[in-house]
This record gives sequence, C-alpha cells and structure tokens, in this order.
Amino acid sequence: MTRRSRATDGWDVHRPHGPDPETVDVWRLDLSGDDAPPPALLALLPQAERDAALAMAHPARRCEHVGGRGLARAILGAALGAPPSSVPLVAGAHGKPEVALSAGATDLAFSIAHAAATVLVAVTRVAPVGVDVESPRPGLDWRRIARRYFTAAEQALLDALPEHVAADAFLATWTRKEAVLKAHGGGIAAGLDTFEVAIGSRAEPAVTAIHRATLDGPWTLHDLPLGRPRRGAVAVRAPSARLRLRRASL
Ligand SMILES: CC(C)(COP(=O)(O)OP(=O)(O)OC[C@H]1O[C@@H](n2cnc3c(N)ncnc32)[C@H](O)[C@@H]1OP(=O)(O)O)[C@@H](O)C(=O)NCCC(=O)NCCS
Repeated sequence: MTRRSRATDGWDVHRPHGPDPETVDVWRLDLSGDDAPPPALLALLPQAERDAALAMAHPARRCEHVGGRGLARAILGAALGAPPSSVPLVAGAHGKPEVALSAGATDLAFSIAHAAATVLVAVTRVAPVGVDVESPRPGLDWRRIARRYFTAAEQALLDALPEHVAADAFLATWTRKEAVLKAHGGGIAAGLDTFEVAIGSRAEPAVTAIHRATLDGPWTLHDLPLGRPRRGAVAVRAPSARLRLRRASL
C-alpha cells in the first residue's frame, strides 16, 4: 500500500514504489537548494557511492547527484523488494546508470535528470526510458547552441517562431531531444542532429525524423508539467506508454 495525496499540479504525492507493467512513472523531488546533500537521501546510497558523491566539488551538483541517486535507489529498491543501498547499479557503455543483470530485473529501466534543484527519475518496465529537465541559464546563447546541435530543419522552425516564445521553444526542443538520447544511452555525444523532434511549445511532442539506425523507434515523447521556466520531457522507446507523475515523499 502506498501513501498518496492528490495534487492540483498533476504530481500526486507518493512514497516510492515500483512501476505497473504498462506505466512510465516520472518521480519528482524538489531540493531545498541548500549546499548540504539531504541526509535522508545520502543514507540510501552504498558507502562507495556516498564517498564519491561527497567528494564532488560543486555543492549544487553534489546535492542534485545525491538527490537523483537516492531517489532512484528508493524507487528501484521498492520495485525489487530490496533495501535501496543494495540495488546493484552499473554504468552502461556511455555512463548511463542501469540496474545490473544480477538483480534479476532485466526489464526495469530508469533515467535520472536534475537541474536548478529539481530532480527527476523516470522508471518503467515498458522499454528503455530517458528523462531530462533544464532551466534557463542566464546569458546562454541558445541560438548558437541550436545552430551547433540541431538539424537545419529544426533550426529553420525555431527561427520562424516569434522572439518572445523562441527561447522557451528551444528549451522544450532540447529536453525532448536529450530525453531520447538518454533513453538510447549515448547522451548528447550520440548526436542531437541524428534525429528530429516536433518544434514549438504548442507542437505535440514527437520524434518526427530519424537519420541514424541505432535510434530507430517507435518513440513516445511527453513534455512534463514542471512549472515555467523549467522545461522537461520523458522519452520511451515504445509505441505508447501510460504516464504517471509522482512527487516523492521520503
Ligand atoms: C551525459 C548527459 C546525459 C548529461 O546531461 P546533463 O544535462 O548534464 O545532466 P542531466 O541532469 O540531464 O542528467 C544527468 C544524469 O544522466 C545520467 N546519465 C549519465 N550518462 C548518461 C547517458 N549516457 N545516458 C543516459 N543517462 C546518463 C546520470 O544519472 C546523470 O546523473 P548522475 O551522474 O548525477 O547520476 C549528456 O547528455 C550531456 O552531457 N549533456 C550536456 C548538457 C548540456 O550541455 N546542456 C545544455 C542545455 S542548454
């Protein structure tokens, strides 16, 4: 039985639990923004992971890392019926954390993202999953980034948008694309210009073109209602997926 309460922003409050067979659960945790990692989350990490986290130099990055790993471990532990700190995690070829095969849960996929003290963890048994969150960064030359990383067709669609919505549309596009690459496991090194997504805040999230065989779909994309100015998206390599939004109560 999980404790829950209804939310008006779409994120129902739950204690960590595993996904249903057909759901993609996106869990959210908003950190206080303090420099110290929350002790309750730190305690969910095995000793070696805790030591590595505490050695991280950047305080905000350290807190978000502990938040992401702690939340992921709490959910995966609930799904596997194991203490969070004992869930065996390994790094994939390009650094994506995955549940080790030894856990006997080959279908349990997850993805972590964090930005500006918001931590997201997507968990599902449906298919590989990727999640991303971004917050506007002051002074970021997003048009230059779009020119460098997006396809010519995506750049043209962004350039055609009115100035007052273009920066937000860039962020929405970035998170949709990065969510796909995080599900794939290659991260942005796998090539943001090897596929295309729908552009614009009003465009239904979707992968619209694929130029690289290892990225073949089908893909299901959802934008996440994080509250502006944040933007976030989750991608699942499946024709459909039932999305559930959870705010973590730990
Ligand atoms: C490796 C990468 C996934 C990191 O992305 P990021 O935006 O810096 O950080 P995110 O919060 O989205 O994700 C970080 C998490 O992704 C996970 N991750 C790491 N490598 C991954 C990979 N190859 N595939 C999927 N997930 C990965 C980790 O859990 C990591 O968090 P942790 O180390 O604290 O556990 C990669 O896509 C990247 O380098 N992105 C650059 C981001 C950037 O330049 N953004 C500017 C946008 S305007």
